[in-house]
Amino acid sequence: MTQTIHLTRPDDWHLHLRDGAALQTVVPHSAAQFGRAIVMPNLQPPITTAAAALAYRARIQAAVPPGVQFEPLMTLYLTDNLPAAEIKRAVEAGVVAVKLYPAGATTHSDAGVTDVRKTYKTLEAMQRAGMPLLLHGEVTAPEVDIFDREAVFIERQLIPLRHDFPELKIVLEHITTREAVQYVHAADRFTGATLTAHHLLFNRNALFTGASGAGLRPHYFCLPVLKREAHRQALLQAASSGSSKFFLGTDSAPHAAHLKESAAGCAGCYTAHAAMELYAEAFDGVGALDKLEAFASFNGADFYGLPRNTGTITLKREAWTPPVSFAFGAALLKPLRSGEVLPWRMV
Ligand code: NCD
Ligand code: ZN
Ligand code: ZN
Repeated sequence: MTQTIHLTRPDDWHLHLRDGAALQTVVPHSAAQFGRAIVMPNLQPPITTAAAALAYRARIQAAVPPGVQFEPLMTLYLTDNLPAAEIKRAVEAGVVAVKLYPAGATTHSDAGVTDVRKTYKTLEAMQRAGMPLLLHGEVTAPEVDIFDREAVFIERQLIPLRHDFPELKIVLEHITTREAVQYVHAADRFTGATLTAHHLLFNRNALFTGASGAGLRPHYFCLPVLKREAHRQALLQAASSGSSKFFLGTDSAPHAAHLKESAAGCAGCYTAHAAMELYAEAFDGVGALDKLEAFASFNGADFYGLPRNTGTITLKREAWTPPVSFAFGAALLKPLRSGEVLPWRMV
């Protein structure tokens, strides 16, 4: 049994850091593990200009502990009105990607896209500039069952979009279904996908059952929602297949505990405090620890056309219990599996 693994320092290609006091808690967690992270722009108000992205980057950098190397890679939030001219300014400012949230699909998506055709001029500018489009790939049509929203998005939105923009780099974020895995496997080199640790570790039963018996467990609620076991198996196969199209994106999405433990609990799981430990557990579970490094440290950088990191990290098979909660401004932040023992530990 493997006891210790050494990996090239990994990157997180999908991360929520929020803003203000929250940065003091969550930035050090990600910076301890990852060399870089793609920072999602779904603040309130969202990051829709290169200037706002630069100011946000400076606030994040100010929360990186002294002596730690961590590079936030910034993104813009696509709206129906994001001018094509902003793409040029974004490229010049070092912004690396643009995120599409269908309006109403997820946390802080009210300013999102109501009809993708309204954004075509901007997407043309992105295709020309080689700037990736990152997708929250779920339809919002109320008649579509919440468990089918990703598969229906691929049929109704992604296939036509790809037809109209054959060379636009697209990342299908936080994929959760067999259909998404099949789509990405069959696609060409302009398409990639991120996978979260929680979708690799849990199926939808986790929302309703646990060690303590039946109960609704809001800390397992995220979007896209956890799916059936057959889908989880497809995700594990994709992550450990050796295909360079699949890479690590935690989608660590902190919310104050009281806003998750509520009658209308927020969507998002916090995993940044133990991200690599959770991925190691998932890969170990299918005997694929040897595939973790490419998934976590190579494939994403290669897709984005960025250099791979040079340092290394070490993970040990060693049981430990992360803190039950963290300070989160004036509130509390409860991580996924709060209070539970994890089998892997980063040293
Ligand atoms: C994310 C958040 O809280 O910002 N929530 C989530 O459930 N994943 C938004 C997102 O990535 O869809
Ligand atoms: Zn999302
Ligand atoms: Zn996200």
